[in-house]
Amino acid sequence: MDVMLVALEDSNLQEIEEVDVDDNWKLVKSDVLTFIINGEKKTVPTINLTPEMTLNEYLRDTLHLTGTKYMCFEGGCGACVVAATIRNPRTNVKETHAVNSCLVALLSCQNWEITTVEHLGNQYDGLHDIQQKIVTFNGTQCGFCTPGMVMNMYALQEADKTKMAEIENSFGGNMCRCTGYRSILTAFKSMAPDANPAVLGIIPDIEELRLCSKRNKENCQNDCQHNCEVKLPLEMNLRGDNLEDLKDAQNWYKVQTTRDIFNLFRRNRGKTYQLVAGNTARGIYKEISQKDYYIDITDVKELKNYQLNTKNLKLGGGMSLSEVMIVLKDVAGRDDDFKYLQKFVEHLDLVAHIPVRNVGTLAGNLSIKHAYNEFASDVFLLLEVVGAKIIVDNGGLFKKSLLPRDYLNYNMNQKIILSVELPPIDDSYKLETYKIMPRAQNAHAYLNAGFLVKMNKKNVVSSATFVYGGVAPNFIHAKNSEAFIKGKQLFDNGNMQKLFGKLYSEVHPEDKSPDPPPEFRRRLAVSLMYKFILSITPESAVSKANKSGGSKLKRPDVSTGVQDYKTNKSMYPIGEAVTKLEAPIQATGEAEYITDMPDLHNQCYAAFVTGKAAAGSILRSIDATEVLKMEGVEGFFQASDIDDVGGVNSFLSPNPIFYREDEEIFLPIGQPIKFYYEPVGVVVANSRRLAQQAAGMIKVTFEPSAHSPILTTKEAMEEKSKERIHHLETRVAKKQNHNVPHKIKGVFETDWKYHYHMELQVVNVIPGDNGYFDIYPSTQWMDNVQYSIQRALNIPAHKLRIAVKRLGGSFGAKITRNNWTSVAATLAAMKLNKPVKFMIPLVDNMNVMGKRNCYRSEYEVGVDKDGVIGFLDNNLYNNIGAYQNAMLEGFVLELYEGTYRTDAFQTDTFWVRTDNPAATMMRAPGSFEGCAIIENILEHIAYKIDKDPIDVRMANLNTEANPLLKKLIDDCLEWSEYRKRRADIETFNKENRWRKKGIAIVPMTFGMLFVAPYNVQVSIFHADGTIAISHCGVEMGQGINTKTAQAAAYLFKVDISMIEIWPTNNFVSPNCFATGGAVTTESVLIALNSASEKLLSRINEAATSAKLPSDASWLDRVRNAFDNGVSLTENQHFSNDPNDPTTFKVYGVCVSEVEVDILTGAHIVQRVDLLEDAGNPLNPAIDIGQCEGAFVMGMGNWTIEDIVLNEEGALTTNSTWWYKIPGAKDIPVDFRVKLPDGVPNPVTPFRNKATSEPPICLSFAVPLAIKHALKSARVQSDAKADPWAVMEGPTTIQWIFDNALPDYKQYKL
Ligand SMILES: Cc1cc2nc3c(=O)[nH]c(=O)nc-3n(C[C@H](O)[C@H](O)[C@H](O)COP(=O)(O)OP(=O)(O)OC[C@H]3O[C@@H](n4cnc5c(N)ncnc54)[C@H](O)[C@@H]3O)c2cc1C
Ligand code: FES
Ligand code: FES
Repeated sequence: MDVMLVALEDSNLQEIEEVDVDDNWKLVKSDVLTFIINGEKKTVPTINLTPEMTLNEYLRDTLHLTGTKYMCFEGGCGACVVAATIRNPRTNVKETHAVNSCLVALLSCQNWEITTVEHLGNQYDGLHDIQQKIVTFNGTQCGFCTPGMVMNMYALQEADKTKMAEIENSFGGNMCRCTGYRSILTAFKSMAPDANPAVLGIIPDIEELRLCSKRNKENCQNDCQHNCEVKLPLEMNLRGDNLEDLKDAQNWYKVQTTRDIFNLFRRNRGKTYQLVAGNTARGIYKEISQKDYYIDITDVKELKNYQLNTKNLKLGGGMSLSEVMIVLKDVAGRDDDFKYLQKFVEHLDLVAHIPVRNVGTLAGNLSIKHAYNEFASDVFLLLEVVGAKIIVDNGGLFKKSLLPRDYLNYNMNQKIILSVELPPIDDSYKLETYKIMPRAQNAHAYLNAGFLVKMNKKNVVSSATFVYGGVAPNFIHAKNSEAFIKGKQLFDNGNMQKLFGKLYSEVHPEDKSPDPPPEFRRRLAVSLMYKFILSITPESAVSKANKSGGSKLKRPDVSTGVQDYKTNKSMYPIGEAVTKLEAPIQATGEAEYITDMPDLHNQCYAAFVTGKAAAGSILRSIDATEVLKMEGVEGFFQASDIDDVGGVNSFLSPNPIFYREDEEIFLPIGQPIKFYYEPVGVVVANSRRLAQQAAGMIKVTFEPSAHSPILTTKEAMEEKSKERIHHLETRVAKKQNHNVPHKIKGVFETDWKYHYHMELQVVNVIPGDNGYFDIYPSTQWMDNVQYSIQRALNIPAHKLRIAVKRLGGSFGAKITRNNWTSVAATLAAMKLNKPVKFMIPLVDNMNVMGKRNCYRSEYEVGVDKDGVIGFLDNNLYNNIGAYQNAMLEGFVLELYEGTYRTDAFQTDTFWVRTDNPAATMMRAPGSFEGCAIIENILEHIAYKIDKDPIDVRMANLNTEANPLLKKLIDDCLEWSEYRKRRADIETFNKENRWRKKGIAIVPMTFGMLFVAPYNVQVSIFHADGTIAISHCGVEMGQGINTKTAQAAAYLFKVDISMIEIWPTNNFVSPNCFATGGAVTTESVLIALNSASEKLLSRINEAATSAKLPSDASWLDRVRNAFDNGVSLTENQHFSNDPNDPTTFKVYGVCVSEVEVDILTGAHIVQRVDLLEDAGNPLNPAIDIGQCEGAFVMGMGNWTIEDIVLNEEGALTTNSTWWYKIPGAKDIPVDFRVKLPDGVPNPVTPFRNKATSEPPICLSFAVPLAIKHALKSARVQSDAKADPWAVMEGPTTIQWIFDNALPDYKQYKL
């Protein structure tokens, strides 16, 4: 790529002469791109750069600055955030912003100063204050999101946005699947000038907070109150000073003026082009970027100008949305006629997130809307509702001034958006805008709306503008409704009803997956109109019960947290809240994940070639001929290649728990595809980008299936096919009583959930000499990877050397699914004899890999007047997808039957084969569902007999089996003030028709099972007495390494700094089971306990023989043992021998309170009180982090996350744009977690219990609280309605809205 820096005099904003081609105009060719990275000037030859190349790729692949991560390449996850200091062409002042390096085109970085996490601090020179805070406050778990979090905070500090509320509002673009955000927000808020211990929860010792961790303190000139600054020594000059010969006709142009743009247009007539502003549109519509030439307009000053005059506020089209918000806020405060802009600021605060808004421009947003009319652009909506003008320039004398709606039909070829003009609006107008989205921040609108009406003193409407987005591509104004209300009294029930009727009949949303259903959007459109009217109706004209419906649900600016636990100092470091061992290197970006491993000579990259056909279609052909001719493509491998090596076409291997049948690695020719995106092969190339591009070009043909796919249990039932539904087991009731006054029938269904591990499925395979392979998979289960590769590729197991350092998140997804990646990459590495990296892109990761099982419960329960169960018949269906390998009935039943008396339970279990990717384990697999299934029934009973749900639970509680649970429930009721709050809520709900609150309580008995072998190797070094441990557990954020080090330090009576945990590998830990089920840490600690006993016994025996004094130091005793030939290494295996524990129970209780807006379906989790039995917590900081993270993940599973498949079975929510997990402002506003004191675990050596899985089950309290909030709304809507709302999927915003039984006939003043 050649880059042009166009050098001409700046043009004047107002007047651009019509010039055909400016003779004086010259292009200046630049063979190099110049910018500063971490204070170092980089001069990059442009010859090999392409417009698609991102800053992220350059940082990671060229500079090997792998602290900056990536996951989605869509601007949706925040893993890639870096800070960019860019000179604002308008002010000529440098500003520092967080940006998504995955969206920034490298070619746009001319003259930028970029700071990455590596520049802030490192383990040797010391951590930056921000990094130190996230470590101290336990804000890292898997650590994959951490560098992005740190850099976002760094940019905030640089921009002086450091108040608590600003911080809390600024992390909408940074996803964390592990921590639940509370600890991260606390860490950063602790640095705020208005930091307040009351909202921070437990803060570590203040001395510790101030501690400077710099190891080379002697070189530091600062006192420790100093906020360590990062210095960027070099100054860049705006134009660059490396411009070379003058030349024309190249395809990336960096321009300074609008005149430059038009000259380029004229010289390139007929060619396709793209203006590059923030370059963020590629996060949504990826195809936007493939054009003949590109014009980088980020430095065009005219597009950045703004001006306020009496007629309007003019904003340059190239202003970033962040700049626009600043200007609007300022103008709103200064001029009464522009006061309305404050509402725009609030609305824009919901657009994307800060790193996108920092570079994404007004014109860029409007251009997306122009190209894709269906895009529910918030910018367009705001402009249209106030009748703003879009000023379009074609380089001629006159500019075109267009209303936004006219702009959409205007031919924009070779034209630019120069500016937009916002009009003044006086007090006689009433304005409001709405955005309905699936989570609190960083989500596009399901539906947005803007309403503007002008009324006279008698409230007669003289003009009305009703604008909607997200209805249909061509639907902008509700024209009939606008016309109808003109000249009419607005605050009149009769007129309102007619208006709603008109609106309902003219809004016809498009039916397009995965958009939410049209009827929901249609009703919502009416409901928002009602909300608007309520918001502007004078208090005297509206009933009190209805009035609160007019306000928007608003979360407090700052959330709070309580972390309640006690520790016993005499046992330290057991029980001490030690910060995680890996946290410092996670915060600095030094922690190495698999994709961070350096490339080798001949490095190759792999990509799956997936089928794309409805299940049952027969694979007829795969044609890779043309692709294999492409330069850089190394090979394509398919099922026949597995046959050739005599392997089994399966990525699974026999094991007692997760294997019943083989799962195809690649679909063979002539066979029916099992699910829509089943892989048919793997293509390998010399770059990641090329591999993915090649994968999309290989021609795959199918003979279409004659049948529609069966995707759900319900569909399988309707099909009545015996081949799909299989009975597993009947658990016969001991005693049932059918002579009961109340009988209740119901259904409950959970659905697929995506793990959303930030590090995607990945493996690095390096062939070595002598026929072995070094394999670095992101697996939770090395043995399964090894066995599966051996079986599939016929490679002897002892040739497969597998090592795992850490995972960037997993949550069960990498128990067996990584085998797929690992087998495919090893096949390629073997065939090519070259190293192969295979990181599956997000879209394939979501399309191909199985998800959390779906369970359907169909029950009938009979109870007495107190809710005591006389009989419960329940059929449990497990939708397992295409293969029968995630059979979780044992886990489901353990939780289903764990808490209550079960004599009257009769349960039939079934598995159902459907045409989806095979289900796989996800955090607390089966347990999550089992707990919800029984709690759903208990809650249903309470609704039916109109009792407080806790009383029904207590009436059925199995106190004999679970005495501790009863105590914890009592404690939790008192701690949370449940009874009082429930009473307050009942009153609130009576008094408010459209705003409701709900509260729910969920108890849990989680049976832990020690199921399999785990081992530990301990080696003590005679050189200095330090100890290295390698265990079979995989560190993925749960803190297994830290807990192991704490236990080892305690056992050997040495300082924890003497312990190092080495990465696990299959030589030291062969034949081990998966890290999962939350018992690995406990199992490893048991093995460690045995190993230490053996080692200490040998060391002490040698000391006694050598007559060492009783107070001989650790080092002396170790050296003495060594000198006397004693082995200082020990390998111990935990394998369930008769003396090992086999099970223990973990208890928990949670009270959750929500507030719901009935008119929108939005909700806020106002407060959570979570009491989790962690035994004697081994590390309360880690344990609290696990509780918070698990709970927030569960909340997301129940209320936000939605998997949508189309009729052919293709996943349509396969991106961060569509699949939303909770963000920082979705977590409970008041999040209280308590680890009860004095409940030691009798069966584990350190008396602790597992925390990583159980708390997710307690999150079911959130949907139950939502149901409670809906209870009175349903009855108020329809006196005959069942107050109980049925859950057959998540309680999303749509579910809530629909289940409040909306009926616009009830929309009254
Ligand atoms: C994760 C994410 C979330 C988002 N969420 C929302 C949301 O909730 N609501 C919403 O409304 N939007 C949302 N967006 C869209 C976002 O606002 C736009 O991506 C952004 O404003 C585009 O601006 P840009 O400068 O990056 O455009 P670019 O990507 O640089 O360009 C986009 C298009 O605009 C054209 N263009 C740029 N400048 C001009 C000009 N001056 N004249 C004519 N054409 C021009 C280009 O040719 C190109 O075709 C989201 C985007 C992302 C990535
Ligand atoms: S990788 Fe950039 S936002 Fe996800
Ligand atoms: S720590 Fe945030 S994603 Fe794992």
